[in-house]
Amino acid sequence: MTTYSTLRERLKVENLNGNAEDLAFFTHYLHNHENGVSKSYKERAIKFYKSLEETDNLVEEPGIQYLLPIKWDVNFPNPENPKFSFIDLFAGIGGFRLAAQYNQGKCVFSSEWDKFAQKSYEYNFGEVPFGDITKIDSNLIPNHDILFAGFPCQPFSYSGRNEGFKDKTRGTLFFDILRILENKKPKMFLLENVKGLKSHNKGKTLKTILDSLENLGYKLHWKILKSTDYGLPQKRERWYCVGSLENIDFQFPTKTKTNTTLREIIDTEEDSDALRLTDFEMKRIKYHFKNVSENNQRVQHDSSKYEPLTKKGKHGVFSFQKGDGSLRFHVGDSAKTQIQEAFYCTLDSYAPTIIANRVPKLWDIGRKLSVLEAQRLQGFPDKFEFPVSDNQAYKQLGNSISVPVVELIIKEMTKYL
Ligand SMILES: C[S@@+](CC[C@H](N)C(=O)[O-])C[C@H]1O[C@@H](n2cnc3c(N)ncnc32)[C@H](O)[C@@H]1O
Repeated sequence: MTTYSTLRERLKVENLNGNAEDLAFFTHYLHNHENGVSKSYKERAIKFYKSLEETDNLVEEPGIQYLLPIKWDVNFPNPENPKFSFIDLFAGIGGFRLAAQYNQGKCVFSSEWDKFAQKSYEYNFGEVPFGDITKIDSNLIPNHDILFAGFPCQPFSYSGRNEGFKDKTRGTLFFDILRILENKKPKMFLLENVKGLKSHNKGKTLKTILDSLENLGYKLHWKILKSTDYGLPQKRERWYCVGSLENIDFQFPTKTKTNTTLREIIDTEEDSDALRLTDFEMKRIKYHFKNVSENNQRVQHDSSKYEPLTKKGKHGVFSFQKGDGSLRFHVGDSAKTQIQEAFYCTLDSYAPTIIANRVPKLWDIGRKLSVLEAQRLQGFPDKFEFPVSDNQAYKQLGNSISVPVVELIIKEMTKYL
């Protein structure tokens, strides 16, 4: 039986050099050749494989059928006896896919246009996601039970005229979700976004989103959930929205474990230079603890090196330790006007939200999280691997989802399939 790892090596899948779309058709076909959805991918997959036979002599067997079935020796193969099918939009590194696979879901289509995220996705799941969703005809997408999408939040246009939802949302990525829902009508969907979506454009953005989904016939349930309520030491608050064609009594999962601390995911032996806080940061941290008074007043730092007209020069830099142990630096000493400048958490507390360009840092061990710790912070298992630079890995994890939270939401959803 052909293993995926030998095939990917032979076809140099990991390079994704200009042929990502061919590889998307090819790998989607390999995953779906024996279910009803293969027709979407078969023709292009065969054509691609034939072209390899003819041009590169890379392929020894005569014809794609001799490759099948594939032995999936990847970190996260599809479940053997799937209970539902799904599509993974704005797939990133496949946080939704992982959570859905844990619930015995089978992915039948994925889309993600960032080359580095595609690499991580392919490495762990053995599938190259399709690219730009705005260019994908929804007829290519197979029927599925659930649509997943953690979509970028973009402003809608409100021309003031009496426009329909299509006009308001056109040109945004949310429009593409609507377009796919309208054409494929999956039984359910799960959308995820930042907490700020709730108040974006004074609530108008959320209202447009909810109205346009309801307009397609979906009943909606949405809630802001915190990752710290589900066993992760990360204060990540996200908007989750479950839609269902049927009227269901959907309940978001109840809290599971609320007191996990960073100590549970930190490797205290880890001591790499690359993770250490800078001398400047360590000096400021030491200065705080040396100068803080018994009643934990704010400590003012030396701002003489800042230009007098800059915010720091004018208002000064202060540090303060919160009751949860975190140490915060801010500009200006009044609680109301201060601008947070730096945030350091501790082993015995939780981390702030990990986002694309911000890796949580700890003052007590004097370093930022490693990639492995950052993936634990999002609930990714240790065997998830990143075939990209550490900077890309942090960014991908920041963009992703807290896997255990989504796993529990999907578990609730599958009761109604
Ligand atoms: C918030 S992240 C979602 C990450 C994902 N939920 C995960 O678990 O990793 C949004 C993703 O959408 C991707 N994206 C943005 N525009 C896109 C487009 N037009 N087509 C496909 N993917 C797109 C970005 O590259 C990014 O990875």
